[in-house]
Amino acid sequence: SPSDPDLVERARAAKEKLGDKVFVLGHHYQRDEVIQFADVTGDSFKLARDAAARPEAEYIVFCGVHFMAESADILTSGDQKVVLPDLAAGCSMADMATAEQVAECWDVLTEAGVAEQVVPVSYMNSSADIKAFTGRHGGTICTSSNAQRALEWAFEQGEKVLFLPDQHLGRNTAVRDMGMSLEDCVLYNPHKPNGGLTAQQLRDAKMILWRGHCSVHGRFSLDSVNDVRERIPGVNVLVHPECKHEVVEAADYVGSTEYIIKALEAAPAGSKWAIGTELNLVRRLANRFAPEGKEIVFLDKTVCFCSTMNRIDLPHLVWTLESLAEGNLVNRIEVDRETERFAKLALERMLALP
Ligand code: 13P
Ligand code: SF4
Repeated sequence: SPSDPDLVERARAAKEKLGDKVFVLGHHYQRDEVIQFADVTGDSFKLARDAAARPEAEYIVFCGVHFMAESADILTSGDQKVVLPDLAAGCSMADMATAEQVAECWDVLTEAGVAEQVVPVSYMNSSADIKAFTGRHGGTICTSSNAQRALEWAFEQGEKVLFLPDQHLGRNTAVRDMGMSLEDCVLYNPHKPNGGLTAQQLRDAKMILWRGHCSVHGRFSLDSVNDVRERIPGVNVLVHPECKHEVVEAADYVGSTEYIIKALEAAPAGSKWAIGTELNLVRRLANRFAPEGKEIVFLDKTVCFCSTMNRIDLPHLVWTLESLAEGNLVNRIEVDRETERFAKLALERMLALP
């Protein structure tokens, strides 16, 4: 739906008043009404790097979810303020790994005698606490655009990887991209004693996958892929690696949001695409590429937005920008120093990956 012209005007005026003091980052899953005010858009990797490259901006307004704003705070300098327009914009996947659960998991690995061989690799979609745990234990962060390089690096440091919190990104990268087998992977369930695994299973495993997932990407199924191939002959199926393994196996192409955009930019006129990722992005791409004769549809028949990404709407953005313009610092995201120190170590290892 078109955005309220009055709110558009207020956002524009507040942003103009702030000038260079504010820099607005927008994740690809944000609503059109918000993304129009982003100074840069990107996937979570690109946005983390871009946040760090703006030392002159006093305020970084992060139109995305909580873990992204935390990462931006960790990577920016101490006097820069990172602001999240709605504090309730979390991520259900990130919430699936708490600091207590992960500490308990490490105890289980220690008990089984494998902790020394394990290198943690944590998906960007995790809290700053989990990133700090990762840094403390010699591990790295990864995003969907560098998971393979992160895993390759980790297997140079140790024999096993604890991958968290997204089991699908971990499994898909290990099996589809790196030639491991499904048997090399075990699933650690934080709600079961010892993760539901025996010490022997932990000793045999190469990849210890945390039992977390994205509920948005979890909705795509093998049926979605088969149905769309029947409906649209010749369709290219392109999905995000947070999708289930069977969906990724059945797809033609797999990649991060940034990869999806590049693939569609490079696609020839007349080509047809079914995209398995969040709906705001898919709709925007369908509209953008329709004039070039590229047919782009959503992979599933039912709609699926990321409800927390959608919490950042134009009214929240207007309120944020107007507050900042009036000198009121609202919704600041600030990671404590001790957490930041180790989380930064893990993030910097990612940024240094070849
Ligand atoms: P990317 O933008 O890294 O592809 O990640 C998708 C996502 O789910 C972010 O929450
Ligand atoms: Fe989290 Fe999934 Fe939403 Fe990304 S799309 S922010 S992983 S719930």
